[in-house]
Order: sequence, then C-alpha cells, then structure tokens
Amino acid sequence: MESPRVMFVGEDQDLWPELLKSADRDNWRFTFAHGGDEALVALDEQNFDAVVANLTLPGMSGAELLQEVRHRRPDVWRFLRAQPEAVAKAEGWAAAAHQVIDLPVGVEDIQTRLSQAFTQQVWKPSPVAETLLSTCPLLPSPPKLYYRMVDLLSSPTASLEKIGDLIEQDAPMAAKILQMVNSAIFSLQLKVNRASDAVLYLGVETTKAVVLMAHTVSCFSSLKRIALPAEKILTHSFHTARYARWIAQMECPRGQTSDQAFTAGLLHDIGKFLLAANRGEAYVRAIEYACKGSMTLQQAETDFFGVDHAELGGCLLASWGIPQPIVDAVALHHKPVWMGETGFAPITAVHAANVLANEQHAVDLGFVLSELNLDYLEAGGYGDSVEGWRNACVSRE
Ligand SMILES: [Fe+2]
Ligand SMILES: [Fe+2]
Repeated sequence: MESPRVMFVGEDQDLWPELLKSADRDNWRFTFAHGGDEALVALDEQNFDAVVANLTLPGMSGAELLQEVRHRRPDVWRFLRAQPEAVAKAEGWAAAAHQVIDLPVGVEDIQTRLSQAFTQQVWKPSPVAETLLSTCPLLPSPPKLYYRMVDLLSSPTASLEKIGDLIEQDAPMAAKILQMVNSAIFSLQLKVNRASDAVLYLGVETTKAVVLMAHTVSCFSSLKRIALPAEKILTHSFHTARYARWIAQMECPRGQTSDQAFTAGLLHDIGKFLLAANRGEAYVRAIEYACKGSMTLQQAETDFFGVDHAELGGCLLASWGIPQPIVDAVALHHKPVWMGETGFAPITAVHAANVLANEQHAVDLGFVLSELNLDYLEAGGYGDSVEGWRNACVSRE
C-alpha cells in the first residue's frame, strides 16, 4: 500500500502537530476535520484508507459519523476514539467502528493501530457481518460492568475485595455470575455465595471473562427456546477456554496471551447465540442443512447468512472495544490462516482448543465438527506441538 491516507475527526487540535510529524516520518497523508459534516464532505471529495473519529464531535456523534462512512465507503477502515463505557451510551454503536481506540491514547498507539490494520495483522469485520449485526433486534449492549472492572484494575488501589464489591453493586449480574460459577461447568469444590468469593476463587482475569460471558448470555436468557442447546454451547465454551489457556501457558508462559486465550475461548461461539436469538427460524434450517449435507455448521451459516458465527461474534466484540487479540481469536477460530504468520497468539490457542475440546467432550448435534488447520499450525511451527497440547489438556482435566 502506498502512502496511506487517513482522516482524523475531532476537536483535539493539540494532537494534530504531533500526528503530522509522525505522518511525515512514515510518509503517510493525514487530513483533519473538526466535525462530522466537514468529514463527510472530505470523504466525498477524496479517497481515504481510514477514518479515526472522536466519539464527541460538534453536531453528529462519532458513532453516527462512522455509521455514515460505513454506508458510503464500506472499504474504509473505521476507528472510534472513545472510552469504552461511553460507547455503551452512544446511539448506533453496533458495527459503527472496526476498532475502538480507548482514551487517552497517544500518537504512537494510534500509529500502531493504523499500521496493523493496513498490513492486515488484525482482522477486519466484513460489511455483511456488520449489516447483520447492526440489524439484530436482540443485541447485548456493551458490557458496563466489564469496563468498570478494567477501569478499577488500572488504579493503584485496586484489590480483589474492591472488584467483588463492584460486582455486588450490580445485583442481577452478580446473581448471574454466581449461577454460572456454581454450575456443573465450573466444578468448584465449594458453593460460592458472594461475588467477592468468586473473584478470590477464580482470579481477576477469569472473573472478567465470566462477566463478559454472563453479560452476553443474560441478554438471551428470556428466550424460551433457541435453535441450539444453550447449556451445551456454554459447557463447550468453558472446555475450550480452559484448553486455550493451558495451550497458551505452554507456548507463552509470560504476558497476557493465556488470559486473552481463556477469554476468547469462553466467548468464541457467542455468534451462535446471536444467530439463534435473532435469526431463529433460518438458523434451525441452516442446522438441518448442515446435518443433511454433512458439512460444518460454519459452512452452512455462510451459505445461509453470508457470514459464520465466528465472524458475527467477533464483530460484536469489536464494537464493544474488547482487546484486539481476543476479537481476532473469536472471529477467526475456524479460519486462522487469515491471520498469516503472526507467531503464537490467542487465535492459535483457541483454534486448537476448540477442536481438541470437541475431541474430548464431543457434543453430537448432527453436523460435521471442524478440524485442525494443519497448514496454519505447521506454517507457524506448531505442527509437532499438537500432540503435546492434546496430552497436556487431557491430563490437566
Ligand atoms: Fe465455532
Ligand atoms: Fe466451538
């Protein structure tokens, strides 16, 4: 790609000189607009590779602007600069941006996000997935409790008790979390009665992942019946999360990879809930079609909806501003080759964990289960590691 062209929209002129310096250095072309109307005029007159908009703008909001950019120029990368909690209150947040850039963030971080996007090191939701997501009547809103936990954890006075207190302030969520943690899926030795005990037992990162899962599932809990057995998806998700964490711990013992792999494993099939809840009748037919045609569910979903559950789930998490490695892992767990060779990442762990978890805890719903993509694993140098991963996961259970 030659000289990427990026438009920044917002009133933070303090940042502009620094951005211009970095554009000069990397031979990028930057344009600046104060508000949405000015940005849309520029968009009609020039070609851009990306638009980076602040959520708060004069006139229309950044989310509204990016929705308009999505309709006019679906090929352009869209970034929303906002505190994730503010996104939760924004009208039209679903599929507004390909990525949310948390505030405050400096020029270097913005450059990194843009450059990863332009060099295809991160997944980009497709226009079909975005249209489907934005027209879903039943959509879990951005997870406020999760954002508050992330916020609290960034403070130097954070403690497990404070995280527990925070969860208990949200009584319906606390009840949902306790119900999930005390279910057979978690197989805890003791019954946990308070959210703060759950945090102690599970640790902060697992609790964050459970909060995301409980938030998502609670949106669908009033549904009497969905096309797929919800309990089975949850159990499979939990097995996948644990396997993904263990595999990641073997390959990447330090850093956030194993926690991100766990979170992505837990959330990897949430697109199935979205399809079942919002396209229920068509989804029943897609499942029958997969069973009769001896194909995988994701093949049938693609034939029916133009997008599979993995991509749809990734699209929701991207709209929420969940960390990108988690989004990538969810969106591409059936198509990891899309990522190319990026070294071991949560996607590697979740792709393998999903298949290995199905080997050990098969849920026979009649369609063909997905297989390991050996081309992808071998290209990354992990072809010979699979047996070790399988043995480790089985023995740790
Ligand atoms: Fe899946
Ligand atoms: Fe799965």
